[in-house]
Amino acid sequence: MMETQEKVNVMPRIGDMAPDFTAKTTKGEIKFSNYAEGKWVILFSHPADFTPVCTTEMSGFALRKAEFEALNTALMGLSIDSVHAHLGWVNNVRNTTGVYFDFPIIADIDMKVSKLYGMLQPNESETAAVRAVFIIDPAKKIRLVMYYPLNVGRNMNEILRALEALQTSDKYGVAMPLDWKKGDKVIVPPPQNLEEMEQRLNDTTCERTDFYLCKREL
Ligand code: BEZ
Repeated sequence: MMETQEKVNVMPRIGDMAPDFTAKTTKGEIKFSNYAEGKWVILFSHPADFTPVCTTEMSGFALRKAEFEALNTALMGLSIDSVHAHLGWVNNVRNTTGVYFDFPIIADIDMKVSKLYGMLQPNESETAAVRAVFIIDPAKKIRLVMYYPLNVGRNMNEILRALEALQTSDKYGVAMPLDWKKGDKVIVPPPQNLEEMEQRLNDTTCERTDFYLCKREL
């Protein structure tokens, strides 16, 4: 993977390869292309250490780390703060609540990674990253992007749900309907020609609304 640290103001999109970078983190220096090989990665940003919404969100990631691990997924946070600020905040939250942020948090003091991932959105803030979430697959392809503003915390259930939906879609070649969650029926790929359409219209193995909308159990 090419290092693209000098590229700025890009907004990586779904289907793009995740831009590579090397960054200082709370777990030492990490080259992203070498991080969590063979795993999915959730790369997420928060606006600032020692702020209330961010503390709830980071605690949410930490408390549910085992659920991400069960989905073969590693976490990596980021903010435009120093490693020292990160360490102080990690220790403060541990001392006050018992929650420990045991995953790397990038100290993006020069804003290189934030700019590379479109996390710095100047009309929202010129100095703080917005609340971004990138779901990146083991081939380092970006599969889902979320951006939230500074004043609204994310929904951890939705991040986990979307991750599991992507993985299930990949595994079974199916699509996920509105509000899909594990255990729900999935959508089978629609027919691509008349012959397949006629077959689908006679298919008794799926729950059919019409030929183009059929669901089945996994
Ligand atoms: C917060 O996490 O509470 C926060 C951070 C930056 C701006 C606004 C709120």
